[in-house]
Amino acid sequence: MKASKKAAPTIVVIFGGTGDLTKRKLVPAFYNLFLDNWLPEQFAIIGLGRTKLNDQEYRERLYQGLTEFSRSGKPTENKWDVFQNSLYYLTSEINNPASYTQLAEQIKALEESWGRRANHLFYLSIAPQFIESVTVNLKKAGIADNPDCDRIVVEKPFGHDLETAKDLNKLLTNTFQETQIYRIDHYLGKETVQNILAFRFANALFEPLWNRNYIDYVQITVAEQVGVEDRGGYYEGSGALRDMIQNHLLQLLCMVAMEPPVTFEAEEIRNRKVDVLHAIRRLKREEVNQYAVRGQYGAGWMKGQEVPGYREETGVDPKSSTETYAAVKFYLDNWRWQGVPFYLRTGKRMQEKNSSITVQFRPVPHLTFPTALSENILPNRLTINIQPEMDIRLRFTAKKTGLEMALTPAEMVFDFNADATHAQSPEAYETLLLDALQGDATLFMRSDQVEVAWEVITPILETWESRPSLEFPNYAAGMWGPENAEALIAREGHTWAVTLPQKNKEHNRH
Ligand code: BG6
Repeated sequence: MKASKKAAPTIVVIFGGTGDLTKRKLVPAFYNLFLDNWLPEQFAIIGLGRTKLNDQEYRERLYQGLTEFSRSGKPTENKWDVFQNSLYYLTSEINNPASYTQLAEQIKALEESWGRRANHLFYLSIAPQFIESVTVNLKKAGIADNPDCDRIVVEKPFGHDLETAKDLNKLLTNTFQETQIYRIDHYLGKETVQNILAFRFANALFEPLWNRNYIDYVQITVAEQVGVEDRGGYYEGSGALRDMIQNHLLQLLCMVAMEPPVTFEAEEIRNRKVDVLHAIRRLKREEVNQYAVRGQYGAGWMKGQEVPGYREETGVDPKSSTETYAAVKFYLDNWRWQGVPFYLRTGKRMQEKNSSITVQFRPVPHLTFPTALSENILPNRLTINIQPEMDIRLRFTAKKTGLEMALTPAEMVFDFNADATHAQSPEAYETLLLDALQGDATLFMRSDQVEVAWEVITPILETWESRPSLEFPNYAAGMWGPENAEALIAREGHTWAVTLPQKNKEHNRH
């Protein structure tokens, strides 16, 4: 993670240069890094794509993208004039070696004009079936072979299952050393997610309580209001378990459950995280029904508008058995977490957009107050709101002001937006791209991490795939998922903490 140091001179090559991600996320992220003065003077982005465009046309496209999607809004003329000079486009065929020769020539020409060899950062924002061709051709073109200067960033999906993830790792390591490979999970770049490390390891207060003696259970929710949008084709082959739990939610679990690292080095932090994945109790196929629940949204109402069910979305099979909701109960077999359930859930077309982590502490061991008062004592609860709210809330019980002795739940809140030093929080891609430019892999996934994460979900994947659900669709758009997701955690006497993030809403009583 960044100290304040500019990256070395770099040429970024984006495979998928005309794609959505480039326009919405990557170029806006680089542009904001440029505005904040993080980019080196000698910097260039070469976008690659099949569409025939010249540099000027490409720049205009990206300008539109910035105007629409950048957190800093429409670029000002003087800034854009400087930035656009670093944008280039190469019409290319991903499987054609001649395109890589051309790319190599363009890189060489830039380097000659700078009078030095630059770092090369290859960004793969392409369908997985093209990765092999790209790596083989990069190797042949000889532009990716300096382990100290050349890096590759790989977007998800990182494999379709354990076997394909292993194959992909093997493929990448034919050309690159592991230290050159940056597997991106954009959740790890979110401000609120990074703050979990600061919260846990820069404060003495919480770590002594952070274990099975004081914590009753942990919930991780990533609820989205959007449906599959125009990604029906991709999503049909994926589903919520692959799309979200295998990566984003398991990464969040690692941040919450990891042991304190000895140093803030990439390898140390990644080791501690992988330990968590190793500790997750593996489910047997016959247990899957007790530990995991799947759902698929049907038609319903969102913000007063009727929306179609998943099976009616473009690119989706009308009889699809792909899950758009998944909830899983995990246990970690280690000293710290033995017996503490970790509930993970994610879904599309849920009532609210809400990504949060709830750490529920145990009740007080003895009730000092009379029964009538004690009813208002709720166990302490820590809520880390990742988005759209960005705050940390600690619920505790306080005396109600007045002559009578009465108790009431209260909250201590750290609100990211109220932090005066934080003018506008950087987007996850800004953080991660800068890390990649600077060669810091802390927030990226190592090959073993990815593989163990697949291993953890394999029994669920296989069980669900072998037995299509007869109940789909089983939740209406605009609800909080299927009913049996409540049952999944009610067995332990728990309920989903859905209401807390909104200020002024009633506190959940469990
Ligand atoms: C992506 C998934 O990785 O994350 C999408 O493929 C999902 O399906 C998205 O919508 C959610 O990201 P965020 O940052 O909007 O919570």
